[in-house]
Amino acid sequence: MFETIEAAPRDAILGLTAAFREDQRPEKINLSVGVYQDETGHTPLLECVRAAQQRLAAEASSKSYLPISGDVQFGERVRELVLGDEHEAVANGRIALAQTPGGTGALRVAGEFIRANLPQASLWVSDPTWPNHPNVFQAAGVRLQKYPYLDASSNSLAWEATLAAIANIPAGDVILLHGCCHNPTGIDPTESQWEQLADIIYDRGLLPLLDFAYQGFGDGIQQDAAGLRALARPGAELLVCSSFSKNFGLYRERVGALLAVCPTAAATQAVQSQINRVIRANYSNPPAHGAALVNCVLGDADLRATWETEVATMRERIHSIRKQLVESLAAAGVPGDYSFITKQRGMFSFSGLTKEQVDALREEHAIYIVGSGRINVAGLTPSNVGPVARAVRSVIERSS
Ligand code: LMR
Repeated sequence: MFETIEAAPRDAILGLTAAFREDQRPEKINLSVGVYQDETGHTPLLECVRAAQQRLAAEASSKSYLPISGDVQFGERVRELVLGDEHEAVANGRIALAQTPGGTGALRVAGEFIRANLPQASLWVSDPTWPNHPNVFQAAGVRLQKYPYLDASSNSLAWEATLAAIANIPAGDVILLHGCCHNPTGIDPTESQWEQLADIIYDRGLLPLLDFAYQGFGDGIQQDAAGLRALARPGAELLVCSSFSKNFGLYRERVGALLAVCPTAAATQAVQSQINRVIRANYSNPPAHGAALVNCVLGDADLRATWETEVATMRERIHSIRKQLVESLAAAGVPGDYSFITKQRGMFSFSGLTKEQVDALREEHAIYIVGSGRINVAGLTPSNVGPVARAVRSVIERSS
């Protein structure tokens, strides 16, 4: 039976990291997958996580199953982190929540929840969006549509086109927004644009779904939740997929959460039961370790303070390397104004390099970036930013 099965295409992001691992060239640089690296090119284990691991190793007494929706205390801490403990939906218990295997797990549970409970709804994603969004939602059986987002000519948000497109989305559909640090463009709405988005989304009768994978990597842990909080208006309904891969450096532990803000206590119970049903039929209940670490850090004042400092260090390094990239491109004689890179937020920058230039970077310079031209700036270091800038000049010059 297996003889006739055709090979699947390589994953647009993780497939590149697999190819990078096989690459024997010593000068190789991986700027594809969104993983933070420090100045030395290392993805650190955060100190707060190291301390939490030691505590858990000393104190953990059981490996029995968690509930289907995960650890209750973890859930409380996530609600507080994402929405703030003062939020009226938190205070009134109107949030269904499940601990999930990473942010991707949360997206998949959200997709299956939509398919089962809102079967007429299409899901609208920004153009461009994270290349795994279509994979996840199509696998869950959700119909996909696109709305414009990027104005490539000015490297900015195509604001008028975005608003006009949203104004035409049929009522009852779901719109996916990136809570902060848009992946792949690094371009976010301003606070006042978020308010306008919330107006138009609720006027149209749409359900917002926020992919919130980079909290703390844009402007700050609280600041990055501004869009989400603009959408979480009194009486509003929304879904949020949160990830702790990046802001806790817990990539391989797979820890995230799905939150559903519901209009009433009764709706919250029903939504929670439907989320649990999806999970039970999928992976039954979540893995415990990563969430236990997050719970331990967020629940301890000292560890939490350490975590906030470590997130700030990662964020500030990204801001500073963005500046260094712009300077290095200028120093290498790359034509054009790249100052937009310093205005983008989060790990990614949309470089505008063509597919051919991206291929040439990989084949001739052993520099790996995503086919769309997305660069993981969090993988740049003081020692590799110069060679990257010079390689960019070389591939641009050759194709011009
Ligand atoms: C990325 O966009 O590179 C990250 O979200 C990692 C992934 O799973 O693709």
